[in-house]
Amino acid sequence: MNILAFESSCDETAAAVVRDGREILSSAVASQAEMHALYGGVVPEIASRSHIENIVPMADSALAEAGLGKEDVDAVAVTCGPGLIGALLVGVNFAKSAAFALKVPLVPVHHVRGHIAANYLTHPDLEPPFLCLCVSGGTTAIVYVKTYTEMETLGSTRDDAAGECFDKTARVLGIGYPGGAPMDALARQGREDRYDFPRASIREHPLDMSFSGLKTAALNLINRTSQKGEELDLPDFAASFSAAVSDSLVPRVMEAVSDTGCRRVAAAGGVAANTMLRRDLEKACAAGGCRLWLPEIALCGDNAAMIGSQGYYELLAGHTAGMDLNASASLPIEDPWHPES
Ligand code: KG4
Repeated sequence: MNILAFESSCDETAAAVVRDGREILSSAVASQAEMHALYGGVVPEIASRSHIENIVPMADSALAEAGLGKEDVDAVAVTCGPGLIGALLVGVNFAKSAAFALKVPLVPVHHVRGHIAANYLTHPDLEPPFLCLCVSGGTTAIVYVKTYTEMETLGSTRDDAAGECFDKTARVLGIGYPGGAPMDALARQGREDRYDFPRASIREHPLDMSFSGLKTAALNLINRTSQKGEELDLPDFAASFSAAVSDSLVPRVMEAVSDTGCRRVAAAGGVAANTMLRRDLEKACAAGGCRLWLPEIALCGDNAAMIGSQGYYELLAGHTAGMDLNASASLPIEDPWHPES
C-alpha cells in the first residue's frame, strides 16, 4: 500500500511516499530554517505562507522521486496536530483536496506519533510495545507505545520542551538557529563538568520534567559572565548544558522502565539526534539490560516519511477522516481523534 504523506506542523514543508508503513519510496523536505533564522525563531505567518508556496512542489517531487503516478496512491496521510495552527491548516487542506481528487482514504496523523514511527522506518524489526522518549522543539515526553495506535504519556515537561531550551539558549549565545545542532557540535569538543547547571525534579510526579530553570540558569550565566567582562568557554558551556538536558531525561526513562517492566526503549524527535543523549541512553540501556532503538539522524527532525509510516498503522486501525477534518494546535497523543480544540 502506497501512502502519500504530508507534514507542515512547523517550519518544514514535507511530502513523502511510504510503502506498507516501513519502506520510504521518497521523502522531500523544504526547510524554512534560513528564513526564520533572521528572527531567531519561527514566525508563524511566514511559516504558513511558505507552506502554501512549497506544498505542491513537494508533492510533485515526492511522487516523481518514488517513480509513481497519482493513480498509484492508495491513501493520503497528513499531520493534523499538534503544531502551529496556520501551518497545519495548509497541509490538512491540501491533503483533503488530494484525497478527494484521488478518491482514496484520508488519514489524520498526530505529529508525535509520526516522530515515534520514524523508528519503524529505521528498524524493520521494531514492533510495539516499547517506551519512547519523545524530544523535539515542541514536545518532551515519555510515551508508552502499547500498540501501533494505543499510547500513554507516562511523564512530560511541565514547561519548556528540551528543544526549545536548546534553541533559546543558543539564540542568546548567538551560535545559530535552530540551536540544538550547533550546541551539539560545540559540546562534542567540551568538558561536561565545567559549568554547574540545575537538574529539576517534580516530587509528586517523578517522571515529569522541567526545563525552564535550566534555561534561566543558562541565560543568567551568560549575562553574569558578560557583565564581568569575561568570556564563556563555549564548548564547555555547550557540553555542561547538554549534560544537564540528558541527565533530566535519561534517568526518567530508566525509571519508566522499572515502573512498567517494559525493557524496550526508543527515542524520537529532533533532539533525539543529540550525541550526548544518544550516548547516555545507550549506556543506561546497556547497564539496565534494555534493548534500545534510535532513529536514523536524518529521520529525527520533521519529515513526511514518518507521517506515512504512522498513517499506515492508523489506516489499518480504521482511523480515517472525512472531508470535515480540521487541524488542532493541541492534540492528546492518547486520543488524537477527539481534539480538545
Ligand atoms: O522534531 P523537530 O524537527 O521539530 C519539532 O517537531 O519540534 O525538532 C526540532 C528541535 C529543535 O529544537 C532543534 O534545535 C532540535 O530539535 N535539535 C537538536 C539537535 N538537532 C535538532 N537538539 C539537540 N541536539 C541536536 N543534535
